[in-house]
Order: sequence, then C-alpha cells, then structure tokens
Amino acid sequence: MVETVQWIDNCVVLIDQTRLPLEELYVTCRSFQEVADAIRGMVVRGAPAIGVAAAMGVALGVLHAPEPDLDSQFETICDTLAATRPTAVNLFWAIERMRRLYQKLRGRPVVDIRRWMIEEARLIREEDIAICRAIGRHGAALVPDGRTVLTHCNAGALATAGYGTALGVIRAAIESGKRVDVFADETRPFLQGARLTVWELQQDGIPTTLITDNMAGHFLKSGRIGCVVVGADRIASNGDVANKIGTYSVAVLAHENNVPFFVAAPISTLDLTLASGDQIPIEQRAAAEVTHVFGHAVAPDGTMVENPAFDVTPARYVSAIITEQGVARAPYTESLKRLAGAVYQKSVTVPGDTT
Ligand code: MRU
Repeated sequence: MVETVQWIDNCVVLIDQTRLPLEELYVTCRSFQEVADAIRGMVVRGAPAIGVAAAMGVALGVLHAPEPDLDSQFETICDTLAATRPTAVNLFWAIERMRRLYQKLRGRPVVDIRRWMIEEARLIREEDIAICRAIGRHGAALVPDGRTVLTHCNAGALATAGYGTALGVIRAAIESGKRVDVFADETRPFLQGARLTVWELQQDGIPTTLITDNMAGHFLKSGRIGCVVVGADRIASNGDVANKIGTYSVAVLAHENNVPFFVAAPISTLDLTLASGDQIPIEQRAAAEVTHVFGHAVAPDGTMVENPAFDVTPARYVSAIITEQGVARAPYTESLKRLAGAVYQKSVTVPGDTT
C-alpha cells in the first residue's frame, strides 16, 4: 500500500500528488511552513490525509520552536496550518486535537512536550488507517456483488493515511469475496480520478475503467452501475455532504436512476456545529487549474474562470453515510449524532495525567 504521509527522522514525508502518475516522488518537509505549503499546493490532499499532515506539521513546529517563545509560536503554527484550505474539517479537527494535548502538557519540560506532540501526530496517523479499515468493514455489505461501483475524485489510500474511505469500502468488498469493478470519474479540474484513483487501484490489481465526468449520467442510466461510493470533506449535522466539485451532479443522476449513493467518511469529517451544508465554506482555487492541464493551456489567454473546489450534495440524495462507527441513514440529524456520540477521543498517555 502506498505511504501517503509519514513521520521519518523528524521530518514529514509526503508522496507528491501533484506529480502522480507520471512520477512517484516524495517530498520531505522540515518545517511547519513547508507542511502548510504542501497542503495548500495539493502535494498532500484528501480530507483525512490533510488532517494527518497538519497534525504532523504542528508537531514539527513544536519540535523546532525556540523554547522561550514556544507558547506564542504555537499559535502561529496552528494559525498557519489552519489557513491552508478551508473546506475539509479534518484539518481543523486535527489541529484542535493537537492544541488540546499541548494545553494539557503546559508546564512540563519542553523535551517531553515535543516528544508527546510527535507521538500524538503519529497516533492520529495510525488511527486513521484503522478507521478506514472499519469504514471498509461497515461499507462492504452495501456493495452489490458482481456490479460496477462508480466513484468520484480520490477517496483512497492517497487521501488518507492508508486504505481509503470510499476506496476502502471497495477494497473491503473485494476482500470479502465480492466481484467488483470500478468506474472512476476523471474529476476535472485537478484530475484526482484519472491521475490518483486509477493509479492506486491499478497498484492493487482492482479492475478500473476511467470515464470523463460528463459520461457519469450515461452510465448511471444504462443500468451498469450498482452503486456510487464517494468520500467527503465536511458533513453537516443534517447529512448534507461537501465533497469534490461534481459530486452533487453524480448524486442527482444516481437518484434519478435509482442507483444507491453512499458517502464514506470518518467521524472526524462530521461538523455537527453546522445545521446544514449551506454553511460549509467552499474553497475557490486558482484559474490556472481550469485553463491548464499539467502546465499545458487548454483555453485561450484571458479566459474568465470559476473554480470552486467542492460542492454540497443535499442529504436527500445520500442513501447512507458509512463511518467507522457504523452506517447512518436518514434522518441524519439523529443518526449522525448517535454515531458521533459513540466516539471516545483518545490521545497519547501522558504519565501522571489524571484528566
Ligand atoms: O481537493 P482534494 O483533492 O483535497 O479533494 C478531495 C476530496 O474531495 C475527497 O473526496 C475527500 O477529501 C474525501 S478523501 C477520503
């Protein structure tokens, strides 16, 4: 399995997702600013992977901050990482978890603070892999045997610390003995489907067919697609789902053609402070992602561009939300709250701590 985010020799090592599938390169981040640049620049992307990278970025910042300024530097580190991308709530969840531990450690020797912050970031990474496996186990039962699964963007090992959410469900279905193949939307403008989903499923030998985004309706109508499984960047308490731009169109087309539309995401992707998806901030990205592909212009100079990176799918189009705690169904206001309430927030064990 590909290693997306790693902590090696007090550095954060990321597979460069801007270069895949042409080159398999690894980027080594030696400071929290370099981690922030990597998140902003999509070297690492996908909501859970962004969260893990941010946690490691905080740990890296604490490791290198000069001791007398640690408290003030800590705020700068968190603010810098939080300002990278606005939509995936896992980023803020991970920073908040690191902040909680930091506050708990106040007054301890700096050498211990550094050690435990690093341990916490590594724990978040390990937990993410286990969470994806659990999502896979819960979701596998929903995937129809002998059918094609349509997915959008990349919600796989590359978007998490490993195994994936939506692709984790597909992997688990296959591991359980189901015969499943995958249709991957190319996912313009950044081509996460064509470049990343196809690449990572090929590594596992999972049969995968690439389609352009505008073909999804045709295949959903044809009866060939057994279900749709996608990931999420933020899920509001009513079950509205923010995910990669184009997800909403796929959901409406799935609904129109009676194809189940499943969302697979960890509990850390839930934002129960939001009443609906209307309140989810949508990242706007650079025009060049639309006018260019891999540095090559595909539109005339001076073209006016809109580039929202995400859209919101209303809960009424979502057949189920698959989490590590189980499967939520409508009404989501109740089911999501129930599943989220079952999560006990772990952190590293700090000797002498009784809270
Ligand atoms: O802009 P990206 O590539 O970070 O967007 C990724 C997605 O939209 C994924 O579907 C989502 O983060 C879920 S990843 C498990």
